[in-house]
Amino acid sequence: MFGRARVELKDGAQVRAMRAAGLVVAEALAEVRAALRPGVTTAELDAVARDVLARAGATSSFLGYEGVGAPPYPAVTCISVNDEVVHGIPGDRVVEDGDVVSVDFGAELAGWHGDAAFTAVVGTADPDDAALVETTERALWAGIAALARGDRLGAVGDAVQDTVEEVRRSGGPRYGIVHEYTGHGIGRAMHEAPTVLNYRARERGPRVRAGLVVAVEPMLTRGGAATAELEDGWTVVTQDGSRAAHWEHTVAVTPGGLWVLTAPDGGAEHLGALGVTVAPWED
Ligand code: MF3
Ligand code: CO
Repeated sequence: MFGRARVELKDGAQVRAMRAAGLVVAEALAEVRAALRPGVTTAELDAVARDVLARAGATSSFLGYEGVGAPPYPAVTCISVNDEVVHGIPGDRVVEDGDVVSVDFGAELAGWHGDAAFTAVVGTADPDDAALVETTERALWAGIAALARGDRLGAVGDAVQDTVEEVRRSGGPRYGIVHEYTGHGIGRAMHEAPTVLNYRARERGPRVRAGLVVAVEPMLTRGGAATAELEDGWTVVTQDGSRAAHWEHTVAVTPGGLWVLTAPDGGAEHLGALGVTVAPWED
């Protein structure tokens, strides 16, 4: 998406400002998760996130966002259900028991953006859906952890693909990795250089160093990786109707390690388990 465009590194004060935006995102997603149950509409879930923005004195990164050849985005969340992968528009759809629901949310606070997403199965989960969601979350954390080890950004895509291939090798399902949508740099704009791929590529990408801030966001499906866009100009679905999951965090590379800006604990729990140091940028 951004080709060889310049990567704008952030300093400590800027990363701390982004942490404040990231915490608004974390709060909104926690409240939406708490409200997620059979019978709720996706518009009601969007309203929960909207309230958090108002309370925090923040604005939406998504509302009014201009896509390519699409109408301005009309909501503060993207809510994508079952075969919807990303960019589902909240509305009067009623969430049902067993639905796979992905919620993506971005906030802008004092000029800085945060962006994160989770997927959950509502109510009684089909074990195969639960495994998809769990594997996608694991791919996210593997991708994030790779930022601490790899010297090039391509290490993220390697780690996501390795996670998927390891599941397959150990006799699990063959998940599709969506290629058409990627992670991205983030800062004063929601989408900045560099592009963050979710698969192994020959191009190794820019160097990973302190001040790099990216949104890592793998999307996996229980079937093929091919997607299609609906008539509304936004909603992305799998072509084969298979269910999909999407997890995302905004992550800063700091002088001492990583800082997951949209995780309440900065990533301590998940990265600690992977042997990666969480280091807030304190100067
Ligand atoms: N959060 C999405 C991303 O991760 C973008 C949402 S599209 C928008 O890149 F129109 F809602 F902003
Ligand atoms: Co994003």
